[in-house]
Amino acid sequence: MADTRFGPQGWMPDRLPALGGQTYVITGANAGAGFQAARILLARGASVVMLNRSAQRSAAAITALQQEFGAKADVRYVPVDLSDLSSVRAGAQEVLKTVPRIDALICNAAIAQVPRRQLTVDGFESQLGTNHFGHFLLCGLLFDRVEAAGGRIVVVASLGYKMGLRRIKFEDLNWEQNYGANTAYSQSKLAQMMFAYELQDRLAAAGRKGAVYVCHPGSSATSLIRTSGGLLTRFTWWLMTKTPMVQTAEQGAYPEVMCATETGLEQRALYGPTGRMEFVGPVGRGTLQAHAHDKAAMARLWQLSEHATGFTWQV
Ligand SMILES: NC(=O)c1ccc[n+]([C@@H]2O[C@H](COP(=O)([O-])OP(=O)(O)OC[C@H]3O[C@@H](n4cnc5c(N)ncnc54)[C@H](OP(=O)(O)O)[C@@H]3O)[C@@H](O)[C@H]2O)c1
Repeated sequence: MADTRFGPQGWMPDRLPALGGQTYVITGANAGAGFQAARILLARGASVVMLNRSAQRSAAAITALQQEFGAKADVRYVPVDLSDLSSVRAGAQEVLKTVPRIDALICNAAIAQVPRRQLTVDGFESQLGTNHFGHFLLCGLLFDRVEAAGGRIVVVASLGYKMGLRRIKFEDLNWEQNYGANTAYSQSKLAQMMFAYELQDRLAAAGRKGAVYVCHPGSSATSLIRTSGGLLTRFTWWLMTKTPMVQTAEQGAYPEVMCATETGLEQRALYGPTGRMEFVGPVGRGTLQAHAHDKAAMARLWQLSEHATGFTWQV
């Protein structure tokens, strides 16, 4: 059923109030939807802390943002490589030292469609390691700071959660058998969603503050496939960007900015474009399939993730 809460245009950044005094921490904000989210938030006077892996690309992004919004635009970079748990720990420590409040931690960074199976330095399949385990640890280390501000965690997922196996491959998490670029990516995004829904349950059971929202950018013209996808995937994606089934990177940022700022959102939900196939169109509450909140799998994945990252959440 169409979500009409935000009118026929869906959620748009013109709904945003002035955001002076608020701080948004965004992973992977030097490019794509994360960069556009930073732009939208800075335009309303917010402070933005980008957690990126490349110093050079971050410097270029900051220069571009300060050219657009003036040298006083409060945008900073803290190095975090989500594919390396020691880098996540060091980055989180730096954030805790230098960022006194976090109104939203937006888990936006990802790699996708990695053509050949690779392992992270910690020995995880690269997409699961970067997209899920990296964010699982980061959120755990920063959660108290988010909660103290009455803030929220935003998980940027993907419609890919409905593709591939549609379950967590517990028997072979690292894809030693039958690796596929798309199936492994799909599993990593499903894992991120299960993490978010399990965190909601745990916070509610513990009577803790802090909300967790899940969204996706639909199909948006970012650098995602160009960065990590294989040649054929890159070509197919390039062709697709010439069709109306792909929207701009800025439109792709609306769901995550909405989830970081809007009041009255549902937690057990998936927000994103609500137009054709939910790839494009007005932003609102989309369709959420039940396999993404399979309780037994969520609980099992949580336990396993604590073990894999060596981090125990206090919820
Ligand atoms: N675009 C779409 O159509 C689409 C569809 C469904 C879901 N999504 C999701 O939308 C989110 C944003 O992606 P995007 O499309 O904007 O892609 P993008 O343009 O490639 O941006 C991804 C960002 O993540 C960063 N990143 C990658 N690996 C990292 C690591 N190990 N540590 C820290 N940062 C890392 C990238 O940094 P570098 O610049 O250094 O590579 C970049 O800043 C992702 O969660 C993706 O899964 C996108």
